Parts: sequence; structure tokens; C-alpha cells
Amino acid sequence: MKTIIRNTIILLALLGSLFQVNASQNFIYQDSVLKGDNGKTAKIFVGVPVTIKKEMGKNVKVSIKGYMFGDEVYSSKTKELLVAKVQKGFNVNKTEKNEVELIGTLSKELTSSDLLDVWGEHEEFYFEMCTQCHAGPEVNHHTMMEWEAVFGTMRGFAKLDEEEASYLLRYLKANASDGFIKVKH
Ligand code: HEC
Repeated sequence: MKTIIRNTIILLALLGSLFQVNASQNFIYQDSVLKGDNGKTAKIFVGVPVTIKKEMGKNVKVSIKGYMFGDEVYSSKTKELLVAKVQKGFNVNKTEKNEVELIGTLSKELTSSDLLDVWGEHEEFYFEMCTQCHAGPEVNHHTMMEWEAVFGTMRGFAKLDEEEASYLLRYLKANASDGFIKVKH
């Protein structure tokens, strides 16, 4: 009986965390290549939210939004979180000043609506590296800018190399209160 109650609680907690996000929202599962109509491509990075416009067998046509600076697209005007890097000639729909929409196709397998799927390994690494001295702070209780600031010291404390640091910082920023999955408190 106790196990059943515990499992039910865990299940409810999991469902609760999933339903904070619009059920039809999908995310880029790993760094991927988006193919535009004219054959030009854009590199899309892990965690980016995508709207599926059309199912095309094994592929999907998606829309991705962000703010463009040069050939880079960011999640906000403050350029803290990279969404995409576009190849020269990739057709970009401009909606407002700097605000753009990228439309292209990629394999359906590269998208997921399950945040645990997308960030599970990052999260494990975070707890492994960042809970040696204190409990792991709730990632979405900080803004991207706060994470950037704290991380300067903490990456040294956790003895992360360059690659580990950027892997972890992306996870922290993407899941920050003003990251890809915006949360209200
Ligand atoms: C070697 C021990 C150690 C490790 C490993 C460590 N921390 Fe810390 N952390 C501290 C100490 C000590 C403080 C409090 C002093 C400070 O703020 O500099 C702290 C404070 C913090 C704070 C609160 C700072 C604030 O201003 O509110 C955050 C957030 C944080 N750490 C995140 C992390 C993250 C993320 C990692 C993994 C990359 C990490 N820590 C790894 C020792 C550590």
C-alpha cells in the first residue's frame, strides 16, 4: 500500500511538471540540422521549442522563433541563449525588428514533447557536479543572467572543463525562469 501511495505521488508530481508546458509544444531533442525550402540549412541547438506545422512521414515541418543578429538566432534580445545558426541564403521570415521565424524540415525523431527526454542527461550531470557542497538549486528559480554570473565561480568549484561547462550552462539557461520554458511564480 505504501509503495502504491508513493508511486502515485511520484506520478502526480511528474504529470504536474509536464502539464506546465502546453501539451502540443515540442522541443529539439539534440543539436540538429534544419533544412529550408531552398536547400540551405540552419543548425538548431538542443532544447529549442518548435511548433510542428506539418507531419511529412518520417519528417516534420517546423517553425522556430527568435531574434536574429548576424547569422545567429537567440531566444531573446539579450543574446543569452543560442537558438540557431543559419547558413548564408537560408530564407528567414522577419516579423519585427530582429524578430524572425525559421521554417524548415527535420527528422521527427529529433523532436520531443517530453522535457525529461530532452534534458534528462543534462539534469543528471548537473546533480552529479553541483550537489557536492550544497543542494542543487532549483534551476528555474534563477534567470539566465543570474546563472551566467553564479556559474563563473561554480564551474571552477566543480572543476569543469570547457566542454562540460558549456553543456551545463546551456541546461541552466534553457531551464532558467526566462529561458525556453518560461515559468511563472
Ligand atoms: C566545491 C564546492 C561547490 C561546488 C562543487 C559547487 N558549489 Fe555552488 N556554492 C558553493 C559555496 C561555498 C557557495 C556559497 C558562496 C558563494 O556564493 O560563493 C555556493 C553558492 C551557490 C549558489 C548560490 C549563489 C547565490 O548568489 O545565491 C548557486 C546558485 C550555486 N552555488 C550553484 C552551483 C552550481 C550550478 C554548481 C555546479 C556547476 C555548484 N554550485 C557547485 C560551493 C560549491
